[in-house]
Amino acid sequence: MAASTSARARTHATVVVVPGTREISRTRYEIARFAVTVVRGVDAPASLESSGVELTVGTADGNDLKLSDPAVSRHHCVFAVTTRGVELRDLDSTNGTTLGGFRINSGYAGHGALVKVGETTLRVDLLAEPLRSPVSQEDRFGAVLGRSLPMRRLFEIAGQVAPSEATVLIEGETGTGKSMLAEAIHGASRRAGGPFVVVDCAAMPPQLMESELFGHEAGAFTGAQVRRTGLFEAAAGGTLFLDEIGELPLELQPKLLRAIERHEVRRIGSTERRHVDVRVIAATHRDLRREVNRGAFRSDLWYRLNTVRLVIPPLRERREDIRMLAAHFYGQMMPDPDAHPPAELLDALMRGDWRGNVRELASAVRRALITGDQAAVGEQLEDTDESTLSFREAKERATGSWERQYLLKLMARHAWNVSQAARAARMDRSHLHGLLRRHELLEVGRAETRDGDAGDLRRQTTRGESEGDGT
Ligand SMILES: Nc1ncnc2c1ncn2[C@@H]1O[C@H](COP(=O)(O)OP(=O)(O)O)[C@@H](O)[C@H]1O
Ligand SMILES: [Mg+2]
Repeated sequence: MAASTSARARTHATVVVVPGTREISRTRYEIARFAVTVVRGVDAPASLESSGVELTVGTADGNDLKLSDPAVSRHHCVFAVTTRGVELRDLDSTNGTTLGGFRINSGYAGHGALVKVGETTLRVDLLAEPLRSPVSQEDRFGAVLGRSLPMRRLFEIAGQVAPSEATVLIEGETGTGKSMLAEAIHGASRRAGGPFVVVDCAAMPPQLMESELFGHEAGAFTGAQVRRTGLFEAAAGGTLFLDEIGELPLELQPKLLRAIERHEVRRIGSTERRHVDVRVIAATHRDLRREVNRGAFRSDLWYRLNTVRLVIPPLRERREDIRMLAAHFYGQMMPDPDAHPPAELLDALMRGDWRGNVRELASAVRRALITGDQAAVGEQLEDTDESTLSFREAKERATGSWERQYLLKLMARHAWNVSQAARAARMDRSHLHGLLRRHELLEVGRAETRDGDAGDLRRQTTRGESEGDGT
């Protein structure tokens, strides 16, 4: 994405057709397009139109809109098109991001919104013509299953990059399937016949990490009796998967960067550089851009890893995948792999919060089979320890789960009649309907009212019902 300096005002832009991302057919989807213009500050009048799902702003190389304002952080903020609109997220910048005058962690930027970063003011203009992008028709990539739009988009890109030699960075919360995706990319690459070597940077003691990665000569340090080949060399001809790369000690990062860039390693205690033919895939549960801002991750290594970035959304943002995944895990446990989970279990699973993502879903299915209590499964979910999350993540989860619980109770009280519930909650009917859709509660509502009337919910949800039963 190249910054154009044409700052022609787009104040007369037509009303936007697509507010966020939207599936238009089984193979294509639309992404809202928008422009970000510097209206005040040293970089005025730079302007840039979005050319994908994200548009990043900051002073570091690799940002889409690269600013020179010294009060702006290296990775300051990002605009991301979601199903709900253009979301603006601050990336733990030093001086913060304001949207419409309010300092925010995240918020939705409407047409004409003014955003302040450092001493710079940006204006967001939504553009009329959306981008169109292909999505995979498959509901799996290797062993990774998914039928939701974001997963099929991911499969499309993964399928394109797998055969290349490109370094891939996979981001996603714990349990979203990052390790599985890394292995699937290896499996779909020309290196599939070679080794797939996993390095868990979070599990390895920092003082051993260099020797593990690059090896050592006999006598290189106390305890190094024999020469040892590092994991880089062990992955020769195949793929090296650096899991939880965000935990890699700062002092090792330049060595890793050199190994990736020059395709060579030097064993500890040796002066010889050895060529290694390795492709690197890295994964992390962190947003490394925030780590770069904190000084915990080197900008140049991030830039090198970020050649292809694949983000796996948390399960709660792709609830359409729950049925398929539940059926898969159920089949794994039953003598008959095509065994179908009972509706009662599926309904209970559809209601779950899935903070622990796919991993947690799998164990909930197992637990239900062991205890035989299918309906209670939703209440038994383990909580992740919130103190392991950032304040922002923890708060988002808490509000998300509160919203869901509220909606469930509200709708139950009003027998899933949306108009009646909206009146009682004093909210706009279409807003309520949007919330129900976002929390995938329309499906729960349909299940609840299977034999009842709840006429207005049924009318509303007939669109999109042709998606199949999710198995
Ligand atoms: N899309 C998926 N399809 C099938 N199984 C999945 C999927 N995502 C995750 N899993 C399963 O969930 C568990 C967690 O996945 P994993 O790849 O280890 O997650 P992460 O590396 O992100 O923590 C694994 O058992 C994996 O097999
Ligand atoms: Mg993992």
